[in-house]
Amino acid sequence: MKKSLFVMIAAMAMAAFLFPPIPIQAQTSEDMITLGKALFFDPNLSVTRTQSCADCHAVETGFTGPESDTNDMTAVYEGAVLTRFGNRKPPTSAYCGESPILYFDEVAGEWFGGMFWDGRATGNVLGDPLAEHAMGPFLNPLEMAMPNPRLVCVRVAESDYAALFEAVWGEGSLDFVQDVDGTYERIARSIAAYERSTEANPFTSKFDVFYDAAVAAGKDITQITAAGIPGGMMGGGVGGGGGCPGISFRACIGA
Ligand code: HEC
Repeated sequence: MKKSLFVMIAAMAMAAFLFPPIPIQAQTSEDMITLGKALFFDPNLSVTRTQSCADCHAVETGFTGPESDTNDMTAVYEGAVLTRFGNRKPPTSAYCGESPILYFDEVAGEWFGGMFWDGRATGNVLGDPLAEHAMGPFLNPLEMAMPNPRLVCVRVAESDYAALFEAVWGEGSLDFVQDVDGTYERIARSIAAYERSTEANPFTSKFDVFYDAAVAAGKDITQITAAGIPGGMMGGGVGGGGGCPGISFRACIGA
């Protein structure tokens, strides 16, 4: 009995050595950002192959909803399945990367951090609210309406960036049979890498020019206020880039 236990443990150790687990976290690289961008713009990742993340978060409108008529009238966007509409207006998916894990700030007496208008992608599961959020829209029946994470992974495996995926995450990292959870998480983390990239967060607004000039001139940027609200308290609390003590004023207001 003892011997067989020993053999089993030795076999497990050998397997772990020969087949090390595929990472679900990796250093952000240019290739990971390119991969995240390919995922973000891929309509095949919706059930009807007609809608990508970028359809509701378009570059030309600062990663918010791009349709003027919709913005003027209903504000909510139609999902991949026509006649189904989202619950809310898409906020920008840019400048969200510094939102912390949802927490209650005792001093301010408010909730801060997380993703979505209500902070429900808290970040507690993956340790990263932005990556955690990216697992949502694919499966939301009102948005990309995929039936399960496995089909998302299958569509990625069929894509022309599948080889890039394995180059970034390692051989076997796009396994949709044995390791759907790990693969789905790697997809989400790749998207978050793109959402945090310079391309999605260029910091080239007029406010940035002013802010950089103020820093260069040695001004105390913590004294900058907007509408009478001090920089450190800007934003609305929960939901991506909202009021965020502990991160820079500029990141905080998403400028
Ligand atoms: C059908 C339109 C639609 C599609 C497609 C869509 N989104 Fe969104 N997105 C929204 C809406 C609406 C919200 C706000 C929902 C809420 O807060 O309840 C949102 C919120 C977000 C946020 C949170 C921003 C914040 O400040 O909290 C991010 C980031 C984001 N989406 C990224 C993505 C990514 C990545 C994809 C693709 C995997 C995607 N979206 C697909 C409509 C869409």
